[in-house]
Parts: sequence; C-alpha cells; structure tokens
Amino acid sequence: MYVCICNGYRDCEIRQMAQQGFTCAVETYTALGNGPSCGSCVDTAQQIIDEARCGADAATSLAAAE
Ligand code: FES
Repeated sequence: MYVCICNGYRDCEIRQMAQQGFTCAVETYTALGNGPSCGSCVDTAQQIIDEARCGADAATSLAAAE
C-alpha cells in the first residue's frame, strides 16, 4: 500500500526502515531519498514506524530472555 503519494513510498519500505533502526518518519523519508513534500502522510508513516519498532523491540526482548 502506498503511504506517501508525493514520493511513492510504500508501507513495506517504511516498515523495513523501522526494523533497521529508524524511529522518525522525516528521517526515514530522507534516508529513502526525499523528505516529506506535502506532509499529509507523515502521521501515518510515524504510526507504521512505531508499530514496527514495537514489534522489533518485543522480539529482541524475547530473544534476550531465552
Ligand atoms: S503524501 Fe507524503 S509528503 Fe505528500
């Protein structure tokens, strides 16, 4: 699914960047090539990042506990 129409960024790309350690939507966009343009997607992108980071953090905690 496209999250950012201005830049053509998909949710899977944003999620992958979050799993690599990016925590901020604007920094993620910049790393993908272009920062936000109209900005209407940034809240959605940040939500995707937060959810992906939450899952990654939970997996790390489970691995550490084993
Ligand atoms: S839709 Fe993402 S910056 Fe415009």
